[in-house]
Amino acid sequence: MLELPLKIDFTGKVVVVTGAGGVLCGTMAKAFAQAGAKVAALDLNQESVEKLAAEVREEGYICQGYKANVLDAEELEAVHQQILSDLGPCDILVNGAGGNNPRATTDNEYHHEKTEGQKGFFDLEPSGVDFVFKLNFQGTLLPTQAFAKDMVERKSGCILNVSSMNAYIPLTKIPAYSGAKAAVSNFTQWLATHFAGTGIRCNAIAPGFLVSNQNRSLLFQEDGTPTARSNKILSGTPMKRFVEGEELLGGVFFLCDDQAASAITGVVLPIDAGFAAYSGV
Ligand SMILES: NC(=O)c1ccc[n+]([C@@H]2O[C@H](COP(=O)([O-])OP(=O)(O)OC[C@H]3O[C@@H](n4cnc5c(N)ncnc54)[C@H](O)[C@@H]3O)[C@@H](O)[C@H]2O)c1
Repeated sequence: MLELPLKIDFTGKVVVVTGAGGVLCGTMAKAFAQAGAKVAALDLNQESVEKLAAEVREEGYICQGYKANVLDAEELEAVHQQILSDLGPCDILVNGAGGNNPRATTDNEYHHEKTEGQKGFFDLEPSGVDFVFKLNFQGTLLPTQAFAKDMVERKSGCILNVSSMNAYIPLTKIPAYSGAKAAVSNFTQWLATHFAGTGIRCNAIAPGFLVSNQNRSLLFQEDGTPTARSNKILSGTPMKRFVEGEELLGGVFFLCDDQAASAITGVVLPIDAGFAAYSGV
C-alpha cells in the first residue's frame, strides 16, 4: 500500500504564527490548532491574540497568545525563549504580519487623472514607504532569524511567508506595498536556497483578493453592489469571485506538511481564483 500524502495532522508540532491577531492569520492559527498543533499566536496587538488563544483553548485545542513586534529583534528573541519554555522549539513559522499604509498610497490610479488636493506620486511620504517596506520585509526576516534557529538545530522545519498578488505585477495606487511583497516573494526563494541543506523548507502563499473589514468599503457600495474597483478585480479574475479566508488553508497546510510537500521549497503559491493566470484578454 502507498502511504497517502495528505493527512492534515500537525499533532505535536509547534507552529508560530505572526500577525495572528488579524483576520487571515487568526484563521490560520485556529486551523493549525484544530489540526493538532501547539500554536504560538504572535501580534503587536496583545489583546487580539489573547482573545484568539482563549477562544481556541475553549474549543479544547492548544494556543498561547504573545505580544511581539516583528520589527523588534530583542523582543522577538525574548518571546522565542518564552515559547521554548511554554511549548517547545518551533517546527513551523508562518510570517503573516504585514500590510499597507495610507501614507504610501496614491489617491489615483493615473497621474493625469489627479485633481487638486488629491495625493499623487509626488506626495508619497518617505516615512510611509519606509514603514511598509519594513513591516513586510524586515517583519518577515527578523522572526525568521529568531525562530529558524530551532529548525537549524533540529535539521527540519518549515517557513511559510505571506506574499500577495501585487508581488507579480504591481497594483495601482500601492507602489510600496507591491514592491515590499515582491521582496517577500524574492526572499522566500533566497531562504529556500540558503537553508536547503539544513532540512528547512521555505515557501509562500500569494493570496488574491479577499473581502475583509478593512477593504469592504472600497469593494462594495452601501447597498452591497460592487464598486468600480471591485468590478475591475472581478473582470480580471477568471473565477469571477473573491477568495474566502478559509480557502487559504488548503494551500497553507499542504506547503507546511513535511510529507505532502517534502520536495517543495522556494515556491510562491497563488490562491487567487485565477487572477495571476489571466492576461485580461
Ligand atoms: N487581506 C487581503 O486581501 C490580503 C491579500 C494578500 C496578502 N495579504 C497579507 O496577509 C497578511 C495578513 O493580512 P490580513 O488581511 O489578515 O491583515 P490584518 O490587518 O487583519 O492582520 C495583520 C495583523 O498584523 C499585525 N501587525 C501589524 N504590525 C505588526 C508588527 N509590527 N508586529 C506584529 N504584528 C503586527 C496587526 O496587529 C494585525 O493583527 C498580511 O501579510 C497581508 O499583507 C492580505
